[in-house]
Amino acid sequence: MSDQFLEYVEKHQEAFIDRLRKAVAIPSVSSDPGHRQDVFRMAEFLQNELKALGADNIETRDPGMQDFNGQQIPLPPIVLATVGNNPAKKTILVYGHYDVQPALKEDGWSTNPFELVEDEQQRLIGRGSSDDKGPVLGWINVVEAHKSLGLELPVNLKFCLEGMEESGSEGLDAIIYKEAKGYFADVDAVCISDNYWLGTTKPCLTYGLRGVSYFHMTVKGPARDLHSGVFGGTVHEPMTDLFAVMSKLVAPNGKIQVPGIYDMVRPLTEEEQRTYDNIAFEMHELHGAVGNTTNIHDEVRDVLQARWRFPSLSLHGIEGAFYNPGDKTVVPAKVIGKFSIRTVPDMKPEKVTELVCKYVNDEFAKLGSKNSLEIKCSHAGNHWLSSPDHWTYVAASKAVERVYNVKPDLTREGGSIPVTLSFQDALNKTVLLLPMGRGDDGAHSINEKLDRSNYVQGTKLLGAYLYEVAAAKAE
Ligand SMILES: *[C@@H]1O[C@H](CO)[C@@H](O)[C@H](O)[C@H]1NC(C)=O
Ligand SMILES: *[C@@H]1O[C@H](CO)[C@@H](O)[C@H](O)[C@H]1NC(C)=O
Ligand SMILES: [Zn+2]
Repeated sequence: MSDQFLEYVEKHQEAFIDRLRKAVAIPSVSSDPGHRQDVFRMAEFLQNELKALGADNIETRDPGMQDFNGQQIPLPPIVLATVGNNPAKKTILVYGHYDVQPALKEDGWSTNPFELVEDEQQRLIGRGSSDDKGPVLGWINVVEAHKSLGLELPVNLKFCLEGMEESGSEGLDAIIYKEAKGYFADVDAVCISDNYWLGTTKPCLTYGLRGVSYFHMTVKGPARDLHSGVFGGTVHEPMTDLFAVMSKLVAPNGKIQVPGIYDMVRPLTEEEQRTYDNIAFEMHELHGAVGNTTNIHDEVRDVLQARWRFPSLSLHGIEGAFYNPGDKTVVPAKVIGKFSIRTVPDMKPEKVTELVCKYVNDEFAKLGSKNSLEIKCSHAGNHWLSSPDHWTYVAASKAVERVYNVKPDLTREGGSIPVTLSFQDALNKTVLLLPMGRGDDGAHSINEKLDRSNYVQGTKLLGAYLYEVAAAKAE
């Protein structure tokens, strides 16, 4: 590990923050066609940075056109770049995204979201500071440090940067699969810095994510909306049927009622149980995030397990229902109930769909209603579980110890980052999630921030990780 590198990062932090300031100033909001040219501008910015730092084979891949409510608009490019090409060294593929969530001052930001400002607590506030421009630039800072010091990187680095992550990563999967034997052919492991520490004080490495299966169930009957004064008590009402079935899906204590779901869940071993003992998380953090004390579980361990390694079922909404304030006596003719199941090893999405559909149809049949019910799975993304014993995790763990003087927590997350699974499946290589920011960065909300120390130490961490990878024994 090069001390020169660590010193360089420490000394040049103002320049690194300037780089982040320039990036945040480009409002690369991918969900808004009005900002599409800014997303393209952000891709140019990154290519120019990489070029100036001597990266090779800077190429783009065109994901094609996006159908935006019938209008065809071009998708921003996937930016590929390589630093170092020594076959004797390992090759790490770094993924990040350069688009951001929307942000308006009127949403309640205390500053202009596209102007990076540092507050008195040394927090760098601005849209994209933490998600994901800070981490992407962290890698670029590592490259800059080595170039300026006249040092070679300890590994070969490849970049894959996309501009549609906040809008479903349209077109990315096809390119990952295509380049698996092309641009990414010699990759040994993938590192993604696009998630967060669990809390605010201790770094973590993330090795698992839940999947999600989303369902729509439609109940219909009457040819048109009806008035309860005329038809109440005379017809089977779709909303009544829908409520009856939806109420059977999950109990108020969070237990999924669909038979067979828990049979697929990998049993919790004592060894796994122990991994939850020392995780830096406290109940008040949950209470703070929820804004109340309405938690189901009272022990930290149970909360984390419920979020990370057990499935959950949530009811999300009813399309077609009357929801405005005030009284209205409509009987909706057709209602669509929406719910999702967060899935874990070893649940198979096809089996989940089969069990859910059978159960919902059976429960509906019990109602003896003359309406019809149709249920379908609209989207299924699988869960992901990596191996924290793999050399890439061991290297990252040592890097955390080097930079932060503490062993990282090994965490999972309850949500999904679909690209993780795409890289793992397409490349058949281990993927590491190595977060830079803190759990309270507010990635998708107002006043998004990245603490200066997370940016600076995080840049050191990414560099230190590469040195530990180079020192690790290949398998
Ligand atoms: C917390 O929940 C209780 C009900 O358990 C409710 O009365 C109270 O208003 C809630 N507090 C907040 C801040 O929403
Ligand atoms: C994936 O890689 C492992 C070794 O890490 C190997 O044993 C396995 O055969 C590979 N699978 C495919 C489909 O290439
Ligand atoms: Zn992100």
